[in-house]
Amino acid sequence: MTATVSNLALRKAQTRDLRTDLDLTRDELSYLLDLTAQVKAAPSRYYNALSNRYLTLLFEKPSLRTRLTFELAIKQLGGDAVAVIGPIGNREPVKDIARNLDRWSNALVARVYSQDTIEQLAHWSKAPVINALSDTHHPCQALADVFTLGEKLGTLEGRKVAFIGDGNNVAHSLMLCCARLGANFAIACPAGYEPKESIVEQARAFGASTGAIVEVTRDPYAAVVAADAVYTDVWASMGQEAEAEERSVIFEPYQVNEKLMAAGPPHMMFMHCLPAKAGQEVTEAVAEGGNSVIFDQAENRLHAQKALLLMMLD
Ligand code: CP
Ligand code: NVA
Repeated sequence: MTATVSNLALRKAQTRDLRTDLDLTRDELSYLLDLTAQVKAAPSRYYNALSNRYLTLLFEKPSLRTRLTFELAIKQLGGDAVAVIGPIGNREPVKDIARNLDRWSNALVARVYSQDTIEQLAHWSKAPVINALSDTHHPCQALADVFTLGEKLGTLEGRKVAFIGDGNNVAHSLMLCCARLGANFAIACPAGYEPKESIVEQARAFGASTGAIVEVTRDPYAAVVAADAVYTDVWASMGQEAEAEERSVIFEPYQVNEKLMAAGPPHMMFMHCLPAKAGQEVTEAVAEGGNSVIFDQAENRLHAQKALLLMMLD
């Protein structure tokens, strides 16, 4: 039977992509966090939940956490994964890659230079597409991060997260998820390195219904006032290596160090998606200090992605 445009559209509507954080409704996000807690508490209950489900991992950029936690997550759920490392779209168009992979695997997980590659994969693939980091978003990281915040704080409602540094992919996703869940978000960044205005506006629109306040400031000391967590990320993301030297000068006042930690409440957690460049965006003493939860975040990547795969593939 020849597929018509309308039945292709119907099949597409039944897949659930995670192109950006906006693909999850507030209910879906809450459901995912509850499921993450269940999967973490009783992993053996889910050992065969995704047997005979296969992931294709497409990674244009390096990864330790994301790639390995997706591979281990699907294997621990009874399925399996194959990974392809290298540029996407050089040898054949992205739309053809999508229409090959969706014949062989149940979901595509892609880490890409451009968000447009994720959009193209999602448009053409009948299997769900998960964004494993693009230039503008890192939704899987944000899932683990808001789960970690919930574990430590009980709730995100009325809490405050300060992000210090570059208004980048990690900042965008975290801002959206925090605002969606009612946590105030203050980001301090140098001029020219603010988060995208459209994403700030979207986060503020979420805040209008959850009560979350989203602030953009130049002053890291103002951002950490009354913050429950302070978060930072590298000053030069993957793909920005040529700017690293220039950025290390511009971002120097935005280091998370002992002085900045002392300006926040004593319980303020330190968070980082990793990998970190100790001595740049964070001092060794803060990253290794008693308030650091960086390895809890890394652990929770596994549990949160198991929940995501269960939601998409079960
Ligand atoms: N935080 C994170 O995404 O780590 P990787 O780059 O190692 O996947
Ligand atoms: N902002 C960083 C995150 C790495 C996990 C990057 O894109 O390189």
